[in-house]
Amino acid sequence: MALHSRICEIFGIRYPIVLAGMGGASVPRLAAAVSNAGGLGVLGAAACSPEELRAWIREVRSLTDKPFGVDTLLPASVRREAADAAGAGDGGKPSPMDLLGDYQAFAADFMRQEGLQKVARPREASNAAARGGPAFFSKDFFEAQMEVVIEERVPVYAAGLGNPGPWMERLRENGTKIMAVIGSVKHALQVAASGIDVVVAQGHDGGGHNSPIGTMALIPQVVDAMAGRIPVLGAGGITDGRGVAAAMMLGAEGAWVGTAFLATEEAGIHQFQKEVLVEYGDGDTVVSKSVTGKPARIIRNKWAQAWVDADKTPLPMPFQSMVAGPVLAAATQDQRKDIAPGFAGQGMGLIKAIRPAREVLEDLVDGAEAALSRADIFR
Ligand SMILES: Cc1cc2nc3c(=O)[nH]c(=O)nc-3n(C[C@H](O)[C@H](O)[C@H](O)COP(=O)(O)O)c2cc1C
Repeated sequence: MALHSRICEIFGIRYPIVLAGMGGASVPRLAAAVSNAGGLGVLGAAACSPEELRAWIREVRSLTDKPFGVDTLLPASVRREAADAAGAGDGGKPSPMDLLGDYQAFAADFMRQEGLQKVARPREASNAAARGGPAFFSKDFFEAQMEVVIEERVPVYAAGLGNPGPWMERLRENGTKIMAVIGSVKHALQVAASGIDVVVAQGHDGGGHNSPIGTMALIPQVVDAMAGRIPVLGAGGITDGRGVAAAMMLGAEGAWVGTAFLATEEAGIHQFQKEVLVEYGDGDTVVSKSVTGKPARIIRNKWAQAWVDADKTPLPMPFQSMVAGPVLAAATQDQRKDIAPGFAGQGMGLIKAIRPAREVLEDLVDGAEAALSRADIFR
């Protein structure tokens, strides 16, 4: 049984398996490896400055002549938070800007306790903000990224958060195929109304920003809501071929896979973080707002726990990145598995080795085909 669906036609690829856009991890080398192996490689460009994003797109083009995609974030809440921050807050409630100093002091205390030294140029300072460009993860930052996506006429665009509606016309003019990652039927219907090509239904099991709804329950409900008009990719906890097959049994036409591709030679994360993926198991992730200000599934660590212990609610996006950024940059520099192990989904326990991305893709395909044939015996 060959793994094939409408997804292959829409994107011009061999297998309906898509490398999830994972910020900083789905780098050009990884995206190209997945595309060259017959899937669709999607760049995790959320944290790229516009200049970096342009360089990444050009690099991936130099490494593959196959279709590829770009994933960025378009969170509607950032526009709202920006307005709140500029104003006096909501009915006397302190605004995120009012709280920032106190929260940064909390982060500085944490660093002192853990013996972490400030890094000279943390990630967010190294991008455009430091050179007078838009502030990291601000509305202007996300919009500047979109200009590059359009200018570079990328084959596929994926909105990791939010609705790409305002950009649809210009993307369409370029022939760009458009998808959006959603975590509820309501959000699926909103992005469908914008005219996107593919919906990614990502459930609670997944790494990174995710939904309160479990993957197994979410996929069929989104499939039903799309009523065959828009194909659905399943996502969240799909870490081997059995997961791909299961998503397809639920009505998805392929899978958007993150964590399985993190433990690859080509992934852009650090070696100590790849080792964590092999060493840790199914119960070692938590959902926390401590990194970006939105609920994200991360590998358990002392920074996330510190917020729980202090009974403190992280600031909303984009302010929490200003608090967490220096801590995580310092912990990453010191290779601290206990503080900066990174994001991962609940399927992490299935990862047994760090391998080439091509092998991971081939196993996903072979495993899905085998599982779908086995399912036949129950008829
Ligand atoms: C390390 C990591 C970084 C991520 N960064 C992003 C991101 O920048 N943009 C995005 O849309 N999703 C991001 N995600 C979520 C993935 O796109 C994807 O939905 C998720 O990995 C699927 O679940 P899985 O990890 O269980 O396969 C990230 C996930 C991980 C594990």
